[in-house]
Amino acid sequence: MSASRCATLVVATALVVATACVAPEPVAAPIVPGGIRVGQDLTTFGGGVACVDRVAARVGAEILAAGGNAVDAAIATGFALAVTHPAAGNLGGGGFMLVRTADGTEAAFDYREVAPAAVGADLFLDDAGGYRAEWARTGHRAVGVPGTVAGFARAHARFGSLPWATLVLPAERLAREGILVDEDLNESLDEVAAQLARNPAAAAIFLDGEGRPPPVGVRFVQRDLARTLRRLAKNGPAEFYRGEVADLIVADMAEHGGLLTAEDLDVYRAVERLPLRLPVFGHQVLAMPPPSSAGVALGQILGVLERRSIDEVESMSLEFVHLYAEAARRAFADRAAFLGDPDFVDVPVADLLADARLDSLAASIDGWRATPSEDLGPPLALPEGTDTTHFSVVDRWGGVVANTYTLEQSYGAKVVAAGTGVLLNNELGDFNRVPGRTDREGLIGTAPNLAAPGKRPLSSMSPVIVLRGDVPVVVAGSPGGRTIINTVGGLLVDLLAHGADPGEALARPRVHHGWFPDRIQIEARPDNASWPELLGALGHDVKLVKRLGDAHLIVLDPRTGERRVLADTRLDGGVAVADPPAGS
Ligand code: GLY
Repeated sequence: MSASRCATLVVATALVVATACVAPEPVAAPIVPGGIRVGQDLTTFGGGVACVDRVAARVGAEILAAGGNAVDAAIATGFALAVTHPAAGNLGGGGFMLVRTADGTEAAFDYREVAPAAVGADLFLDDAGGYRAEWARTGHRAVGVPGTVAGFARAHARFGSLPWATLVLPAERLAREGILVDEDLNESLDEVAAQLARNPAAAAIFLDGEGRPPPVGVRFVQRDLARTLRRLAKNGPAEFYRGEVADLIVADMAEHGGLLTAEDLDVYRAVERLPLRLPVFGHQVLAMPPPSSAGVALGQILGVLERRSIDEVESMSLEFVHLYAEAARRAFADRAAFLGDPDFVDVPVADLLADARLDSLAASIDGWRATPSEDLGPPLALPEGTDTTHFSVVDRWGGVVANTYTLEQSYGAKVVAAGTGVLLNNELGDFNRVPGRTDREGLIGTAPNLAAPGKRPLSSMSPVIVLRGDVPVVVAGSPGGRTIINTVGGLLVDLLAHGADPGEALARPRVHHGWFPDRIQIEARPDNASWPELLGALGHDVKLVKRLGDAHLIVLDPRTGERRVLADTRLDGGVAVADPPAGS
């Protein structure tokens, strides 16, 4: 969160606001054994958390300082972000958590939302067969069964060392006592205010009587969310799926024509899967298998670039951008053709990552000419929300967690289950929306990712843990819908193939190509205004954009034992480190 200046007390009718405080100017905190420091780029021999928000990062670091491990800290950070970063931090959404404990145990927790039993492939079609795009974006129809609480609970049962309530209660306190509204929170709410206003439960929490979000600097209290978190702390995760919180969610869905039922909540289970291992650039990248497309797509992009000797190509040179875009174009074509929920679709993961496939994709790239995306298949594209969030965690023993979770779009379906304070996701919008219909405007109708009861929509969330030998050296991830894969892919090329400084790798402009639209997106910088023309000469359509992703990164040096914990500054992210206790 950005440091906020003094603000006058504003008493709004619907909002719960209280006296604003003066935030002190940031100063470099000294290293105190067992102490906690907060910043954006810190080095420690202890543990640390990097995320979009320094209040939530601090919650995680306090858990580390209290003796918790990386999974404990990740869970506490995740609950805290549901309060401090409601655009994407959540209880009402889902995501993926990759874990590698200090003893080398690896796990991939899939807590993606699932489609309720009443959902069919025609979810977003009206009675006349017309596609209703707005149903996929806002309102109760797009809500999948939330997985976050079950996912955190499953990770806690397997690896947690501190009591569940200890990990939930810091978030409860933040919700009860309030957080200072910063510019990011104010602006993100302002962008969706008109949609939130249509849902009385959401409007009562996030808007005042005039439909405005709380101003910068006021303290923003979320009483219903605090109550929900207290129930979760006291009664455990079952409260969300079978307790009073579940009852409130089900009642809200019934009242608003949603499809999610008590039975859907009751049968939801987070799944533990085996991480994919991608051998690239002398490292092993641990990544999510389907229903995230990240592992397969990253394996193809990085494998193709390794075959095209990207390590010998200057980062962000014309040749680099061309090769990167061509590799990504091919991976996204395979993504659309083959990937979906592995419990419903036979996904040929091994074939897609086989040497033969990577060799042929690499060989198909013309060194100085763009391949039209149409040459790789029919025009397909799937718009995805960009408002996800990622956090990376390391504990003092070397255990690491990479967690990415989401409500799909910013503030999800823009509805709150009345009485819970819980924003609900619009994740069902990640399914292919009109069976059999694909077009250049963004519709995709291929079978692997059509909606079905109990099915998980395909995701691009890309938490990664990178090993050198048998030791973790990088923990990373980002929001950004389909651009996530390329934010993480570009970061890994810089770090693993080019040995870039982590700060420079985070800062450099990012590149995205997603097959369709057949266009390269590049973050605009003062020195790249000519790139559309230069890359245009190779046949690329280039769009310079303001921002791609928001990656949060930890880089571990196995030789010195140092851990560099870095937040992306694009959304003014924060890190908190727990320095080792004296004598450790
Ligand atoms: N909803 C964004 C993703 O799952 O990738």
